[in-house]
Amino acid sequence: MNIRNATMSDLSKIAAVEAECFPAAEAATEKDLKDRLEVYPDHFWLLFDEDKMVGFVNGMVTNEPDLTDEMYEDASMHDESGDWQMIFGVNTITEYRNQGCAAVLIRQAIEDAKEQGRKGLVLTCKDRLIRYYAKFGFENEGVSASVHGNVVWYQMRLTF
Ligand SMILES: CC(C)(COP(=O)(O)OP(=O)(O)OC[C@H]1O[C@@H](n2cnc3c(N)ncnc32)[C@H](O)[C@@H]1OP(=O)(O)O)[C@@H](O)C(=O)NCCC(=O)NCCS
Repeated sequence: MNIRNATMSDLSKIAAVEAECFPAAEAATEKDLKDRLEVYPDHFWLLFDEDKMVGFVNGMVTNEPDLTDEMYEDASMHDESGDWQMIFGVNTITEYRNQGCAAVLIRQAIEDAKEQGRKGLVLTCKDRLIRYYAKFGFENEGVSASVHGNVVWYQMRLTF
């Protein structure tokens, strides 16, 4: 297994993994992912088993402390020198789940954000995953303003 950042040539595989992992109302579209790859390919972490992409995490960097829905669609909000690494999506394809794939991706994103001098990382998740992200040091800040996919999201923050 190995982790690397993305290039535009990864777009179709990334879009396929995203579509497998999230319902249509929550999944980033191929256009959103393309826009993100044009602006912040180094803020995608892709996990491969040989040539097979088995999961990824991604998110912009910003000085905004809270993760807002407009960030998902507006890649131009990325600020390479921003304080906070946002995590928009954590995805592992079905057959590779519960083997620690998401964990190694999250740890790599945390390590890189630390090395880059960020203040920390911010994500939103459904209530069932709060305990999972807490294991990495994320703290629950309560219900987020997000209406993404018409579900309730909790904002969690890991501060260095
Ligand atoms: C959530 C997800 C990324 C986990 O990936 P993974 O590679 O299996 O993660 P890991 O092997 O590191 O850890 C699995 C952990 O996730 C937990 N988990 C996964 N799905 C869960 C669910 N539906 N409800 C509760 N816990 C869940 C497991 O219980 C396990 O927790 P543990 O480490 O405390 O035992 C993967 O299931 C996925 O892609 N799901 C669909 C997309 C999604 O919901 N992403 C998260 C958005 S916030």
